Amino acid sequence: MLSAYFLISVTIISLCALLWSRRKYYILMFKLPGKIGYPLLGNALQISRRDDMLNMLKEKETEYGGLFLSWIGPFPIAVVSEPQLAQDVLNSPNCVNKSFVYKGVEDATGRGLFTLDDPEWSYHRKLLNPAFSHKILLSFIPIFNKEVDNLIKVFETIQNSNVDLATILQNFTLSIATQTTMGQIMSDKGVDSGVDESLLQAFPYVQETIVEMGTLSWLSMKVLVWILGDYEKYKKAKATIRKFIGNLILERTKIISEKSKLDGNIFINRAIELLQQGNFTHKNVEDESIVIVFGAFETTATTLKHIITLLAMHPEYQDRAFEEISSLLPRKEHFEMSYSDIQQLSYISMIIDETMRVMSTVPVVGRQVIADTKLSNGVVLPKGLQVLIDIFNMQRREDIWGPEARSFNPDNFLPSNIEGKHPYSYIPFTKGLRNCIGSKYAILSLKIAVAKLVRNFRFTTDFEYGNLQYVENITIKLKQTPLIKIEKREM
Ligand code: HEM
Repeated sequence: MLSAYFLISVTIISLCALLWSRRKYYILMFKLPGKIGYPLLGNALQISRRDDMLNMLKEKETEYGGLFLSWIGPFPIAVVSEPQLAQDVLNSPNCVNKSFVYKGVEDATGRGLFTLDDPEWSYHRKLLNPAFSHKILLSFIPIFNKEVDNLIKVFETIQNSNVDLATILQNFTLSIATQTTMGQIMSDKGVDSGVDESLLQAFPYVQETIVEMGTLSWLSMKVLVWILGDYEKYKKAKATIRKFIGNLILERTKIISEKSKLDGNIFINRAIELLQQGNFTHKNVEDESIVIVFGAFETTATTLKHIITLLAMHPEYQDRAFEEISSLLPRKEHFEMSYSDIQQLSYISMIIDETMRVMSTVPVVGRQVIADTKLSNGVVLPKGLQVLIDIFNMQRREDIWGPEARSFNPDNFLPSNIEGKHPYSYIPFTKGLRNCIGSKYAILSLKIAVAKLVRNFRFTTDFEYGNLQYVENITIKLKQTPLIKIEKREM
């Protein structure tokens, strides 16, 4: 009897201690709007429905405003869609670590820039920043030009049929990424070489799996995938990616050992230099290489596919892009674009920005608060809180972008229309401490690709913009893929 009393007392005391340690979250519940959801699950079920998640967030934001509280099981999550609050979070050293929902990404890619916690993250970022300097980016322009020319040849072979461009564009951006970051040409035929099919399937499979596990991925990916998915297939896909990257590193190390000096400070040279200096382990080089190649090729392929799709749906904007490039470089089929040409592509630049505004390539990012942090609206985010920044819906807010905020219109980026907008109302690469290391690289490669493709082809589709449905998949995906018809333009 005595031991039963003892057990009950210990349980009550432990429960009180637990509630006391979490008191800041409960206080926050009274300060912020939002619902606690179901016992144990919180709102996890709603958040993990990927094809409805962005709509669901929009509904909640309409009801509660630009900062509300949600729950994944016992974990409170603040959801932000207010530019000033996004700026507060993204610039706070207390919010530099990624949310636990990224644990799946870490399981898949290893411990690289994308998921590392501070202070390891800032150490790696400082060491790797030089590999993305302006000078290095300029040295990539001939590769971007050559690979787009190869892509043009592939497009010529699929003219006049309705096609899903996903695989072709992934092939194209993977070929660019391996050359620019890993210093390797996959084949002298470039984009047409046909990267090993199993590799191109491995990346999306791993991505799908970690997103499927999404809100639960902090538990243990191994256990989760075992229970809910196909662990052997997931393991094999991860091994395929690691082998591909491992071979690239091996090749590069061989070339480097034959030379006394590294030619150019591209990512892999920098990483191997850091290994030789003892600043990186071999595992660091491998993990960072996977993160950089994955980060570079998937995001850029998805964005380029969306640009082509939106131009196909909006012939009037496609014609204006064609006029811009043909007046800059008249009557040339395979032309080499210089940096100064690229800087003159003001309308194409607006098309790229507008695509990433209405279809933010990375729709949601997450952070973890490591010390109490006061926002500019006076709310204190307690240590341990998770924060989601809903970039997708923030960039479509009618009070910021006007009543037509959900429509695609590149004029939204005319200087006169951008003037006066909060600098964080458009953040496709995020901003602040942990912004995308490859944003300038991405924009440069996209401008060359769009200019040359529009100069050579006309894109059309039967699919209507209003019927697009968006799926959260780390990068955004479309529920139904619009097929694109490609026609060669008269030169
Ligand atoms: C259109 C193309 C791209 C988009 C939309 C994009 C978007 C983003 C976003 C939103 C983040 C922040 C993620 C977060 O906070 O959780 C990010 C981070 C990152 N991106 Fe990109 N990205 C693109 C291209 C690239 C390229 C070309 C590279 C490499 C060459 C790259 C490498 C990375 C890396 C390594 C990080 C992690 C940075 C860090 O935490 O220090 N990305 N990207």
